[in-house]
Amino acid sequence: MLILSFESSCDETSAAVCAFEDGSKRILSNIIASQVETHKLYGGVVPEIASRAHCDVISSITYEALETAGVSLADVGAIAVANTPGLIGALLVGVSFAKSLAFANNIPLVPVNHIKGHIAANYFAHPELEPPFLALAASGGHTSLMRVSGFTSFEPIGATRDDAIGEAFDKVGRVMGLPYPGGAEMDRLASLGDPDAIKFPSAAVAGDNLDFSFSGLKTSVINYLHTCEQKGVGYSREDIAASFTKTVVTSVTKKLDMAIDATGLEKIVIAGGVAANSHLREGIEALCKKRGLEFFTPPKSLCGDNAAMIAAQGYYEYLAGVRADTSLNAYASGRNDI
Ligand code: KG4
Ligand code: ZN
Repeated sequence: MLILSFESSCDETSAAVCAFEDGSKRILSNIIASQVETHKLYGGVVPEIASRAHCDVISSITYEALETAGVSLADVGAIAVANTPGLIGALLVGVSFAKSLAFANNIPLVPVNHIKGHIAANYFAHPELEPPFLALAASGGHTSLMRVSGFTSFEPIGATRDDAIGEAFDKVGRVMGLPYPGGAEMDRLASLGDPDAIKFPSAAVAGDNLDFSFSGLKTSVINYLHTCEQKGVGYSREDIAASFTKTVVTSVTKKLDMAIDATGLEKIVIAGGVAANSHLREGIEALCKKRGLEFFTPPKSLCGDNAAMIAAQGYYEYLAGVRADTSLNAYASGRNDI
């Protein structure tokens, strides 16, 4: 079957057409209109500007997605849309548009949780991947560890207690003068610096839990930078990026290691924008190798927000009988949030 899908939870408007048959999942089109250049001017996402920008392009990228896939609406078996979590005004654009399209054309509508979508991006690259597995969702807005016991069965077992992992990358990058979003540039700088140059506090919350706290780590890096500036002492952006990244990787692998012990799961899946971080990928891969576990990650091109991942999760929700009626709404968090 063909699924037309939409993603508009933050600053990327995306429409995709994907084909699902027995054991095969193909992306026929995955159009992404990024607003990054607009939000760069403000150093972060401005919610109202994001909503308006989604409105500007959602119709045209839908045409483009159908045209690139070489199909028409009549070929589409279901429409999937991300309706939680995210910026409410941004989500509402995708939800209203998908709803109109679905009900005007008598096409089943399937709501999809954005975070579950990130995890489902793995099914394109790894068609053999099946639950149960342990998933780390690491993005600009979310950081959670989940026990995935079925394609539509997710149980959160750990999360950040404050800032999301990507938010920490972006805020540290911003204070170092990097353009928004700083994550990818931090990744590049970290490869050039000394990871042991500066000691920063762990983001793994002490004790017998699977939670993170990135706020203290972020503040510590920012204080270090401000102190250097106040004293007129130069600093190496590369060393700071490398030391910060090493602390993040050590913190994440520590909690993952504990989660593996707690769950006994033998497959580890990572997803979300920060899953594109090369140091994090290497660190988790090394942990999996040491423990003899299988490691799955999407290609970097499917780590960030995109509509194909919404179609992948939408397919399983559809098979499970999930359907939205005309009252479908969007939720910034909660409700059918994981
Ligand atoms: O999943 P995503 O596209 O959007 C959200 O759902 O939040 O994630 C965006 C986040 C941003 O914070 C961005 O800086 C971060 O992913 N990111 C990275 C890298 N590439 C993107 N963070 C660290 N290293 C990267 N290579
Ligand atoms: Zn995302």
